[in-house]
Amino acid sequence: MTQVRPVSSMPGPSVAALLARGMGPLPRPFDGPNVTFWNSARVALWQAAHALGLRPGQTIAVPAFCCGSELDPFLAAGLKLSFFAIGDDLSPDPVSFAQATEHASAAMVTHYLGFPADLRPAKEITRQRGIPLIEDCAHALYATQDGKPIGMTSEAAVFSLRKTIALPDGGALYLKTGQVRTVAKPPSPDIVQRSTRKLVSLTLRTHPLAFVRAAEDLRRRMKAGRRNPAQAKLEAADDIQWDLQPFTADHSDLGMSSRSLRLFRASDHEAVRASRRRHYQMLEAALSDVRGLKPMKSRLHPDACPLFFPVLVEEIATLRRALANESVAAKHMWPLLHPAVPWERFPRERIWKENMLGLPVHQSLQDGDIDRLVHVVKRWSRT
Ligand SMILES: Cc1ncc(COP(=O)(O)O)c(C=O)c1O
Repeated sequence: MTQVRPVSSMPGPSVAALLARGMGPLPRPFDGPNVTFWNSARVALWQAAHALGLRPGQTIAVPAFCCGSELDPFLAAGLKLSFFAIGDDLSPDPVSFAQATEHASAAMVTHYLGFPADLRPAKEITRQRGIPLIEDCAHALYATQDGKPIGMTSEAAVFSLRKTIALPDGGALYLKTGQVRTVAKPPSPDIVQRSTRKLVSLTLRTHPLAFVRAAEDLRRRMKAGRRNPAQAKLEAADDIQWDLQPFTADHSDLGMSSRSLRLFRASDHEAVRASRRRHYQMLEAALSDVRGLKPMKSRLHPDACPLFFPVLVEEIATLRRALANESVAAKHMWPLLHPAVPWERFPRERIWKENMLGLPVHQSLQDGDIDRLVHVVKRWSRT
């Protein structure tokens, strides 16, 4: 029988959300006419580029500190990329932003990990240059800024809904004015079904009742045949592999599934935000002064809805191993170096990519999970 409840890096859907049939309300701005739903934030970025009238050969300014997948839609749209640096507060560096936008026709800024970036200089610069600003809110569902849902004061904003809540797919595009030029195509039911099954399995594998976990582990073991137990333990704790198709122009009109829309409507939006903030604050209090690890953010901003608790760790592999040994997952934020970024010009962003770990704070966790996570981190720090 599985003794320890694994701590996953992503939430699973609650049984209530899976069974919900009624149509709960969508939060602002997703209930309004300015939002369209897409398969992912990547598709939404492609749609944003087209709705804003960007043409092949034009340049868009983008942050060098990036996951990489947010660059692909622009490259597929034939745009050139001009990179800018990010400051210690994870906001665009104003001098670097001004340089990168000098010959650009648009700019994109990112609200990393659910923390609203300070966009005042970027907004002033894009206003002076007369170019549109796209806010990448892929991590920032339920975050706010200037008293509004995040992203609503720029020309466009994109969201990756499935990063914050457990959905088989889902992205969204907010356009302040204008319209998308495409009608969204429904995704393949097979892919939606496969992704949903993985999410349900995650919920069962991390269920508070040991016999539910054991039954799901047994089902998976029987399905997979004999597997190396160490590997199985890592897989159990690690995050889910998404069945999103890699972005190409062929997928640029792929919509969000009706199942994701239903699960999004069934989500308790305020409770998700409150739970993430609460878990973050628990980690903040416990890990502010731990040797070998530095929290990326000094305090939780009242507008933030954190995706993870981000820390910089030099010995990232040893900490990940220590966590995995206790079935605790954490997300290495972006080990892949996208070849379009001139990394030699952005050494700090590269170090962040190599050393940044996102500790889970999501809504499926219980306080005991956070305590266990803290215990493992502190024990690792002492060795
Ligand atoms: C900052 C950022 N923007 C955009 C994306 C793309 O989101 P999606 O996976 O929904 O396409 C990601 C993906 O990981 C990301 O980290």
